Amino acid sequence: MTVLSVDHLEVNYGTKAPVFAVRNVSLEVQHQEFVGLVGESGCGKSTLGFAIARLERPPAYIRGGSIVINGEDWMTMPDEELRRHRWRDVAIVLQSGMNALNPVMTIEAQFRDVMMQHTSLSRAQILQRSMDVLDMAHIARNTLKRYPHELSGGMKQRVVIAMAFLLHPKLVILDEPTTALDMVVQRQIMDNLTELRQHEQFSVLLISHDLGLVLELCDRVLVMYAGQIVEENTTDSLLEQAWHPYTRALMQALPRIGGNGLQFGGVPGTPPDLHHRLQHCAFAPRCGLVTPECQVREPELTDTPSGKVRCFVTSREVVADDKHHSIRG
Ligand SMILES: Nc1ncnc2c1ncn2[C@@H]1O[C@H](COP(=O)(O)OP(=O)(O)OP(=O)(O)O)[C@@H](O)[C@H]1O
Ligand SMILES: [Mg+2]
Repeated sequence: MTVLSVDHLEVNYGTKAPVFAVRNVSLEVQHQEFVGLVGESGCGKSTLGFAIARLERPPAYIRGGSIVINGEDWMTMPDEELRRHRWRDVAIVLQSGMNALNPVMTIEAQFRDVMMQHTSLSRAQILQRSMDVLDMAHIARNTLKRYPHELSGGMKQRVVIAMAFLLHPKLVILDEPTTALDMVVQRQIMDNLTELRQHEQFSVLLISHDLGLVLELCDRVLVMYAGQIVEENTTDSLLEQAWHPYTRALMQALPRIGGNGLQFGGVPGTPPDLHHRLQHCAFAPRCGLVTPECQVREPELTDTPSGKVRCFVTSREVVADDKHHSIRG
């Protein structure tokens, strides 16, 4: 069952020099699937996440494409209806989510607000559900009585994530939910999410620049470069074989515990400028496998054994690999 289906989505910033931030993006998230969206800073991840939840704000605007969530068309849905569906169908947690907590209300009152706006549950039922989500997130129940300023940054962010689950959303979009936090808290939150999966039925779109984290937590990975999806792969297959040269570079940049201790690579070169429409492969200027073709035409997404890749060169490897297999088989 498909929870989220995005087709040919285009999102621009209508600034004086327009920014083509999301370019022809199509993706799907299945029921209970955890999907990671990775890519370097500025490649369009947050713009895409916001647009999916229809939270894009000027100068951002959706230029084309479709967004279907739980079989409903979120592109043509009136604002009032979108507001009703948000939280219930899709909950979104931002890096700075903790700052969205109201400083003059207790956590309990804020949880109650969300639930009263979207359900007709009794106060007792609301309190029960509030305690349930805190239990699931291993947050002490007496946190409900606290004001945001009484909690640490990490605890506030955990509360915000717990809050996202109040209305049993089918899809939770997490945009860099732990980037601002230290490693220990980051780990706690990620363990919590994995554990929540045993209790609740939901799908996740995890936006992160941290491929290591995504590989650990997600079933499938989408790699974004210059506003486009350049690779779609299952985590298991990606660990064996990445197809896009950019994904390969990201994989090599993962910190490894080696003989010399922890080693960080990095993808050499400068990220692309999103002010231009592309007439060639966006990664060509940084790519070790670049051919003349890559500099004059834009590659399409083509099938790999476990997903898709947008590359002239490595998509030929897929074909060669196939032949090799069929000859052997
Ligand atoms: N309000 C805005 N006006 C104009 N351009 C914008 C605006 N917000 C973002 N952009 C541009 O849109 C592009 C995509 O930005 P976005 O924030 O979606 O990237 P990101 O992948 O989420 O990056 P990060 O990893 O740093 O969060 C960038 O080139 C950015 O400069
Ligand atoms: Mg972002």
